[in-house]
Amino acid sequence: MAIFEILTYPDERLKQESALVEQFDAELHGFIADLEETMRAGPGGVGIAAPQVGRFQRIVIVDCSVTRKPVPNHGRLVLINPEVLTWDGMEVGREGCMSVPDYTGNVIRATQITLAAQDEQGQPLEFAFEGFEARAVQHELDHLDGLLFLDRLVSRRNDLFRRKVYQPKPTKAKKAE
Ligand code: NI
Repeated sequence: MAIFEILTYPDERLKQESALVEQFDAELHGFIADLEETMRAGPGGVGIAAPQVGRFQRIVIVDCSVTRKPVPNHGRLVLINPEVLTWDGMEVGREGCMSVPDYTGNVIRATQITLAAQDEQGQPLEFAFEGFEARAVQHELDHLDGLLFLDRLVSRRNDLFRRKVYQPKPTKAKKAE
């Protein structure tokens, strides 16, 4: 197992479009295990996409079961070659990204989506996502097309926020972000 280095903005490689996965083999499974470990090691990561660690293939992991406030979710998901089938509704919400560590931003996303993908064995999957989980999936899929949430801000002046730096209090356990 290994933790990968995360590419961060403005690394040009984050703009690259990722290719379809064609080989569902042990090498892929090993990469996915390392990608997941990298996500879990990050601050509050509910998702990660392969291109964020420099592998330009259409692989994302999403797990919205770990949020501080519980949200409807499907647990841990590995989505390979994911494709949105339908979009419904629109909502503004705050997003962060391991590739943009110092900022969060307000982004408009669909509130409900249906999605087709393949699992780690290449078998077809289909899901309906809503709310926060739908947002997380849309955010991760953007990485596969070389987009960051920064590319979707309506206004850089009004929709981009510098992250607060939390000073851990010595008397309390460190809060997981
Ligand atoms: Ni991201």
